[in-house]
Amino acid sequence: MKKILGLNFGRAHGNCRKFLDAAMEAAKKEAEGKDVEFEIIDCMKLKITHCIGCGACSRKLQSGVEQISCIQKDDFEALSDAVLAADGIILAAPVYVLAQTGQLKNFIDRFGPAHDKAYMLFENALREDTEGFVPLPENCLKRHLVSYISVGGATTQNWVSYGLPSMNLFGMSLNMKVVDQLDAYGSYVPDRARMLTEQSERMGRRMVDALDMKTSEITWESDPGTCPVCHCNEVTMMGHNKISCPICGIYGELKMVDGEIKAVYSKEQQDRSRLKFTGVMEHQVELNRRDRYPKFDEYVAKFRAMQDEM
Ligand SMILES: Cc1cc2nc3c(=O)[nH]c(=O)nc-3n(C[C@H](O)[C@H](O)[C@H](O)COP(=O)(O)O)c2cc1C
Repeated sequence: MKKILGLNFGRAHGNCRKFLDAAMEAAKKEAEGKDVEFEIIDCMKLKITHCIGCGACSRKLQSGVEQISCIQKDDFEALSDAVLAADGIILAAPVYVLAQTGQLKNFIDRFGPAHDKAYMLFENALREDTEGFVPLPENCLKRHLVSYISVGGATTQNWVSYGLPSMNLFGMSLNMKVVDQLDAYGSYVPDRARMLTEQSERMGRRMVDALDMKTSEITWESDPGTCPVCHCNEVTMMGHNKISCPICGIYGELKMVDGEIKAVYSKEQQDRSRLKFTGVMEHQVELNRRDRYPKFDEYVAKFRAMQDEM
């Protein structure tokens, strides 16, 4: 049994919910005859306070006997469990003041650090090697797929600048594979809303199809954007022709291609993206915790070899 979870960070009867419903209904139709279950959570009803930076979640991960949890007791844990249990997530969130809502960022901050996929794999390997330690739940280590719908009221794209880029932080630490994303600005304009509804339906169908694919088989079929990895349009100018993608953390160059200035990222740099498993692994390697992991090099080689299946 696979599960697709719809998360609505907008109002219970707002535009996010409308597009999310369209995606989920189309997904249900596409999944007819398949063993897939569906759930939608209206996150606005939940109480999710901000991270207080205590580090308890990471210390629990490192304890080897406790599972990852937050010391603050509100609705965070239930949402975190639902995210981990899902195989595919369709996340719809409004743009507030150009970026994701505070509630979504609260969730990302409390979820992210201890759920870094490479960090969890290192710690889990340590647990397996030590008598009496408790392995991490399978839900932490399995593959998760995600699609993003960023919803804005403005009719122009320059008023939703950080919507999709900031939503991409949601799946980053758990190394979720992004299947699709939709920049749903102008969501109150009837003609545009109809087109966005159709695109949401396509997103739902694609999520069901992707459930049966290997990660390496999932191709990008939406707006290619400027960055070939996250498909967002953000570029940081680093001086001269050097650029970086602020979402992926990769470096590239501005080049003239067929008479147009293009952002070009080498294959090697694309593999460094923190949206890819190699990117989160790079972070673990740069932290270089050889004292903590005596089999550091063995772990790195083992997890690198697994990357295509991640
Ligand atoms: C506090 C606040 C800030 C907003 N800022 C933006 C914005 O910067 N850009 C934009 O396009 N829409 C903005 N909006 C409009 C919402 O994105 C829009 O109403 C959206 O439909 C809300 O999602 P919902 O209908 O699912 O609740 C803002 C709305 C609120 C309440």
